[in-house]
Amino acid sequence: MALLEVDKITTYRGSQKVLDSVSFSVEEKKIVGIIGPNGAGKTTIFDAISGFFKPGKGRISFERIEITHFPPHRIAKMGLGRTFQIPRPFKEQTVFENVLLGHLMSRPRLMDPDDVITETNIILEKLELSSKKETLAGELTLSEQRRLEIARALATNPKLLLLDEVAAGLSPAAIDRLVNLLKQLNSQGMTIVIIDHFLNLTIQLASNVIVLDNGRKIAEGRPDEVLNMRIVRDAYLG
Ligand SMILES: Nc1ncnc2c1ncn2[C@@H]1O[C@H](COP(=O)(O)OP(=O)(O)OP(=O)(O)O)[C@@H](O)[C@H]1O
Ligand SMILES: [Mg+2]
Repeated sequence: MALLEVDKITTYRGSQKVLDSVSFSVEEKKIVGIIGPNGAGKTTIFDAISGFFKPGKGRISFERIEITHFPPHRIAKMGLGRTFQIPRPFKEQTVFENVLLGHLMSRPRLMDPDDVITETNIILEKLELSSKKETLAGELTLSEQRRLEIARALATNPKLLLLDEVAAGLSPAAIDRLVNLLKQLNSQGMTIVIIDHFLNLTIQLASNVIVLDNGRKIAEGRPDEVLNMRIVRDAYLG
């Protein structure tokens, strides 16, 4: 079953068409990659899916419910979590508080305070941030900030997790650990879409890749198939 369906989304930023009738679907429990050169429209797709930027045309459905015009908080509560390409932590709060807030904002009435603290600690452990618990988010390294961004998204307990360039700027060893974490989350039932300009994660994780160029979907398929396509090579080489 398709968990997410994006149907002929067209968006403008000012007079520039940044997405041109883009369609794709994401099956439950899969990992899908979205790749493409700078400015292709990758982040704009996530903005549209998560409700931060309303498309001019087209429909987006999550679990068969149309969410195209829902506000971001409502979409998040339905189980759709995302990270931001430029991390957006509360810089003056500690790492622990940042993740705790993710829990409280997504499920305020449902949770026992002790459970919230336990879950927050589990997530920090998963992202190897336990030793940074009391550090202010504004003082983290890039690698730690990226992990905090994922931790905050996980705190909302998403069914579908959208990750925007979370491997950018990480060392090969840090990327390996991230790959293992995402494999683990996926094996526990989480569906994941990764935007991955440099293909560090996609090749190892994605069963299906969507290629965007200049706002259009130019290819789709298995990573090995897609990367051998002339049209994809040409787009990357510019
Ligand atoms: N807030 C904005 N205001 C105006 N134009 C924008 C805005 N955000 C993005 N754009 C433009 O929309 C187009 C698509 O941008 P988008 O950020 O979606 O691309 P991307 O594929 O994520 O690129 P990158 O690999 O650099 O992250 C670009 O031409 C960009 O300049
Ligand atoms: Mg982007």
